[in-house]
Amino acid sequence: MSETNGTPMLEASGLRSGYHGVNVLKDISFEVGNEVFTVLGANGAGKTTLLATLARLIPSTAGSISFLGDDVTRIPAFETAARGMGYVPQERGVFPDLTVMENLTVGGMIGERSREERIEEVVELFPDLGNLGNQVAGTLSGGESRMVACGRALMQDPALLLLDEPTAGLSPLYVDMFFEKITEIHQDKGVGIILAEQNATKALEVADRVMVLSLGEAFAVMDAANLTTDQLKEGYRI
Ligand SMILES: Nc1ncnc2c1ncn2[C@@H]1O[C@H](COP(=O)(O)OP(=O)(O)O)[C@@H](O)[C@H]1O
Ligand SMILES: [Mg+2]
Repeated sequence: MSETNGTPMLEASGLRSGYHGVNVLKDISFEVGNEVFTVLGANGAGKTTLLATLARLIPSTAGSISFLGDDVTRIPAFETAARGMGYVPQERGVFPDLTVMENLTVGGMIGERSREERIEEVVELFPDLGNLGNQVAGTLSGGESRMVACGRALMQDPALLLLDEPTAGLSPLYVDMFFEKITEIHQDKGVGIILAEQNATKALEVADRVMVLSLGEAFAVMDAANLTTDQLKEGYRI
């Protein structure tokens, strides 16, 4: 039941990567279709390493990545956005010295649709950003800067959006809002999502399929509805 419906957007096969010769990801294989694909795992499991490897910010040492039918295993990181992969890092997703509107505009450098149209859509999704346009991003609250980071990635009109723990450290109100937006981005805009999360309860509510990472290994890849609490606990090693 872990097969995607239709052609996968992204396929990782035997993927390995890490830091300074230390392997973190151990032969990870999975496919992501146009769906909400959630990567769960305890702190240190390798979620951030996986997303950064997919976005080509960390070199893979083995295996392959294909995206929208192309082999992207060795492409430079700056090409990923132009090819339709949006990436929102766990931290520092904004240019702190630029205003909110300038941050969004930077995202809009890629693509053919008018920037104004795209800014309008981002503000429709995150209405708070409409009032913060001239504020310098470095002075925003945690929740506000997450919205800017996400909005900037959406300005690139991505086919697939990689979100690394977008709700970590946010107040419960923002957490609920963000999970609603994730569903909206997928359902209304047709964007595929890879969501790295520690918050299993919330993430499983929005996920179509789930991969549990456990010490850098894919412990389970399956329909989110089929994941049992026991499997989750085992994957989290608790
Ligand atoms: N820049 C880095 N240099 C060396 N080791 C790192 C670096 N970033 C992460 N690691 C290690 O890689 C492993 C996975 O980390 P990470 O991908 O951040 O996990 P997660 O996002 O699931 O919390 C951890 O053991 C962590 O200590
Ligand atoms: Mg992380």
